[in-house]
Amino acid sequence: MSVRPVIVIAGIGNGTGTGAATARVFSKQGYRVALIARNADHLNKFTSELKETGGEAAAFPVKDYSYGAVTSVVEGIRKYQWQTPEKAEIRVALWNAAFGAWKPFLDVTEQEVHDSVEANFVAPFAFSRQIILAFQENELSELGKRGTLLFTGATASWRGNVSTSVFAAGKFAGRALSQSLSKEFGKQNIHVAHAIIDGGILTDRSLSRHSNPEDHKQFAENADIRLDAESIAKSYLYLANQDRSAWTWELDLRPAHEKW
Ligand SMILES: NC(=O)c1ccc[n+]([C@@H]2O[C@H](COP(=O)([O-])OP(=O)(O)OC[C@H]3O[C@@H](n4cnc5c(N)ncnc54)[C@H](OP(=O)(O)O)[C@@H]3O)[C@@H](O)[C@H]2O)c1
Repeated sequence: MSVRPVIVIAGIGNGTGTGAATARVFSKQGYRVALIARNADHLNKFTSELKETGGEAAAFPVKDYSYGAVTSVVEGIRKYQWQTPEKAEIRVALWNAAFGAWKPFLDVTEQEVHDSVEANFVAPFAFSRQIILAFQENELSELGKRGTLLFTGATASWRGNVSTSVFAAGKFAGRALSQSLSKEFGKQNIHVAHAIIDGGILTDRSLSRHSNPEDHKQFAENADIRLDAESIAKSYLYLANQDRSAWTWELDLRPAHEKW
């Protein structure tokens, strides 16, 4: 019996960003796709889109990114009966969800502090725990590993700035988590990798933040100044396809004209 791998992706938004692009790229490679997000309408619409293009996908809505909600949703994915009888194994997982607020320190609210800690640290911690437990049940693949756990980071994962106190603090925590897991579980042939996305990604939401018409036009049309979500997804596929003799913990990606 052939084993079709499963990828679990948390954070799909409205289907125009990195989470959705990763689902499309891995689906085309024959992965079953388990999708986690909070907005059930967006999630179901996107899951149907994947199925219509020949993919196998299942939607797992969560009410929030609390430790308990994330733990039970991944437990459900681990037990999920895919429609064909062949065995399914979780081989790749991506924590892509995030909470961000960009404002002066003195304007940050208590709620924003909690939201950042929850989405950027508590939830990926619970997610990683379930994913590592699932990987530990896997035999070694032809790449010599049990699974690949990926994290989407940002410039704020390694550099604070004037308006990023609450966002960078959360993103630093996610990076620290991924590095610690990479060191602890490498010895079990579990690959953990973190991607610093060092620039704006073209999504519906990021485009809407460019309120100045000229900036909006530039961001929408000039491919040299922003990242394409599908290109990021292709890098995630590259990470998942690395064998254990030479694998990456951290990758940084930026558009050609980023002023870094
Ligand atoms: N966009 C950028 O310019 C940029 C730049 C660098 C790094 N990143 C990182 O990339 C990851 C997100 O990827 P993405 O920006 O390409 O988008 P994405 O994959 O569509 O993910 C969007 C994320 O934002 C959440 N979200 C909350 N409200 C939303 C709304 N109204 N519309 C859409 N999404 C909403 C989503 O949560 P639900 O799925 O639960 O709804 C999801 O976690 C994050 O880790 C972020 O820190 C983004």
